[in-house]
Amino acid sequence: MSKFLTTTAVAAILAASLGGAHAQESVEVLHWWTSGGEAAALDVLKKDLESKGIAWQDMPVAGGGGTEAMTVLRARVTAGNAPTAVQMLGFDILDWAKEGALGNLDEIANAEGWDKVIPTALQQFSKYDGHWIAAPVNVHSTNWLWINKAALDAAGGKEPTNWDELVALLEAFKAQGITPVAHGGQAWQDATIFDGITLSLGTDFYKAAFIDLDPAALGSDKMKEAFDRMSVIRSYVDDNFSGRDWNLASAMVIEGKAGVQFMGDWAKGEFIKAGKTPGTDFVCMRFPGTQGAVTFNSDQFAMFNVSADKKAAQLQMASSIESPVFQSAFNVVKGSAPARTDVPDTDFDACGKKAIADLAEANANGTLFGSMAHGHANPAAVKNAIYDVVTRQFNGELTSEEAVQELVAAVAAVQ
Ligand code: BGC
Repeated sequence: MSKFLTTTAVAAILAASLGGAHAQESVEVLHWWTSGGEAAALDVLKKDLESKGIAWQDMPVAGGGGTEAMTVLRARVTAGNAPTAVQMLGFDILDWAKEGALGNLDEIANAEGWDKVIPTALQQFSKYDGHWIAAPVNVHSTNWLWINKAALDAAGGKEPTNWDELVALLEAFKAQGITPVAHGGQAWQDATIFDGITLSLGTDFYKAAFIDLDPAALGSDKMKEAFDRMSVIRSYVDDNFSGRDWNLASAMVIEGKAGVQFMGDWAKGEFIKAGKTPGTDFVCMRFPGTQGAVTFNSDQFAMFNVSADKKAAQLQMASSIESPVFQSAFNVVKGSAPARTDVPDTDFDACGKKAIADLAEANANGTLFGSMAHGHANPAAVKNAIYDVVTRQFNGELTSEEAVQELVAAVAAVQ
């Protein structure tokens, strides 16, 4: 009964905002989902809205992690021409909300009871000043390994459980004549590996360094150890890694040209798109030493202030995104876990089921942390300061000792 009332209330809100207008409703959406797997997932949303009579105006801005998309967005808003909805990560949403640029989704969120089903860890980025400003689409996490199954089998078939076993596996890949680590040298990809490495050195350490920005943790021997491990990984990438897009690195693992990629679970979208099956063609596992903990990032659509004639379509888009059916259909393709806690894992593959279970476990145990690399630990200024040091060290411009010192100084300078 309450479900019926809720559905009716939502229909009434949407009908009222439509106001009897007959012009074609549309949403203009800025996003960076341009890889094969990402585009397939986005298609689920486009088709859903089109089936409700809402046309989709696409504004793709390529570039994993969204750095380029955020630059284009700034230009659009400065020109007084904000899109309807923008794919956005964590602290960026709050920054735009602070500027007063985002609209209010309260009427739809309250009617649909989002408060009860969207985890607090996401709500802290979907709400500002107590009001809903963004619709969370998913929960990704960054501390994953994507391993070619045939290469793993040829190396003895055992998943590495700690750093030494991981290095031994990379050696075995090298002996097979394949590239041990598929990687693209872009700051956000380097930082994504750093998420996994630092988390594997301890959940308290990760929290102190990247959530609390504690100078003692940032400047610690453990941080030096983390940089040393980055150098080890760097020694296993191929000569052409510089600037390579993340999905091309995924393709190297898919095609058996490389052994493993350290990447968030959007990588799974590429494997699925290529017709590959977890457990048969590839293996997903947590970065060795991080099982039980999760560094997460959630894609949300931040909803911008739009003119009255565009509001109904915007609310409909938010409502569609939060529907449990959509949450399952989209995230099965995208590689992420649903943004709601009440979506069954029935349709998800083994890696998806694991993502959902790991997330619930980490949330219950206090080991769920925002990803530094993907804008969920700190605002962009801090994130970019960390990126800069991590990338320079990865590329051999800084020793581990120098990187530790620079990290402390760079973070202090932007706070
Ligand atoms: C986003 C993912 C996206 C990935 C690569 C991440 O920041 O959260 O949705 O697939 O970047 O583009």
